Amino acid sequence: MGKHRSHSPSAFMRKPSETTRLIITTIIGIVAGFFIGNSFHTVSITKVLLPSGIISFIEDRNTGQATEAMLNHAFSSEKNQNSNHSNQLSAEDLKIFVPTNPKGAERLPPGIVAAESDLYPRRLWGDPSEDLPSKPRYLVTFTVGYGQKANIDAAVKKFSENFTILLFHYDGRVSEWDDLEWSKRAIHVSVRKQAKWWYAKRFLHPDIVAPYDYIFVWDEDLGVEHFNAEEYIKLVKKHGLEISQPGLEPNRGLTWQMTKRRGDREVHKVTEERPGWCSDPHLPPCAAFVEIMATVFSRDAWRCVWHMLQNDLVHGWGLDFALRKCVEPAHEKIGVVDAQWIVHQVVPSLGNQGQAQNGRAPWEGVRERCRREWGMFQNRMTEAENAYYKAKGISLPNKA
Ligand SMILES: *[C@@H]1O[C@H](CO)[C@@H](O)[C@H](O)[C@H]1NC(C)=O
Ligand SMILES: *[C@@H]1O[C@H](CO)[C@@H](O)[C@H](O)[C@H]1NC(C)=O
Repeated sequence: MGKHRSHSPSAFMRKPSETTRLIITTIIGIVAGFFIGNSFHTVSITKVLLPSGIISFIEDRNTGQATEAMLNHAFSSEKNQNSNHSNQLSAEDLKIFVPTNPKGAERLPPGIVAAESDLYPRRLWGDPSEDLPSKPRYLVTFTVGYGQKANIDAAVKKFSENFTILLFHYDGRVSEWDDLEWSKRAIHVSVRKQAKWWYAKRFLHPDIVAPYDYIFVWDEDLGVEHFNAEEYIKLVKKHGLEISQPGLEPNRGLTWQMTKRRGDREVHKVTEERPGWCSDPHLPPCAAFVEIMATVFSRDAWRCVWHMLQNDLVHGWGLDFALRKCVEPAHEKIGVVDAQWIVHQVVPSLGNQGQAQNGRAPWEGVRERCRREWGMFQNRMTEAENAYYKAKGISLPNKA
């Protein structure tokens, strides 16, 4: 009995003053009867019957719920019961180590390893297999402040029920979105004064967003009047774009020729730039290039890009030039969707979340940090590549 350590019940059952713990020690036949009586018919009775160990139940009086706190013991001892007694297995034989399991989970039998998750909300009751009437295949995230509520409301309405909606709130004003119908089924993450790529690194781990074919990582100041998300995805699939963005209507927010909307085609993957800007027509900013304001990633591309995100570089400047390192050939798999296009409204919203310093406006400090991060990111990338090639014994020609 010594190894039957008591398992700690879940937290809400922990208060002895409110909860009468009724520990029933019983033989296994009664256990089986209990399960049948409670129509736990999906739990395999044979599995429960096998162990001769003792199962304790803890009953929570408040909820009238029975918890199989000790059921683990029953399952884990099943194997011993099954084993051939004339051929005793040692503890060493029973040790599990599976090198192909995810790192750190090698001691688990592979069948129990849930290496990936999702963002689908579940119910607290009922049969888990019936929790999800639908599983959205696409994910759209917006980094938002309350000031852009109307704009985000318009944008979200361009995304069908096939999208999980995830809002990153940088101003702490979450409850003020409650009146919007879709807000109730959206996922809200609230952390004050952070930038889009900070949230993306923390809350969009590839193993968490694994069920989604495409992941939209969008700013809040995008005009979506001429955009339809389902149509957009059709075009992205048709043209094999792993990293993309909608075309930008030319206005004062336009920085690069590449992202400018072409009126006469579905997508484009290359552009002309100002003379001298492109050393190679297949490299940014003439190809293999989109900006980071309204980027759309395939699942595989995101898995790579997420690893490239730096924990301290939150603005993502310079990332656009490096996205191409995640897909191959980049000039074919990165492109701009012209037929579904947006307007960049250039609202300095997040910039105003900065801090006034030395008599300068908050946005100035933010802008300066953006530029500095760009340089830092470039340096890190260059150094990492150099280190890699050096380790491989490859010497790079000195580039301009
Ligand atoms: C148990 O082990 C013995 C000896 O190794 C073997 O002859 C017998 O077939 C085994 N029985 C089962 C059920 O595996
Ligand atoms: C959602 O996805 C399903 C399956 O791909 C598709 O049939 C349906 O048309 C989509 N909904 C909308 C609004 O496009």
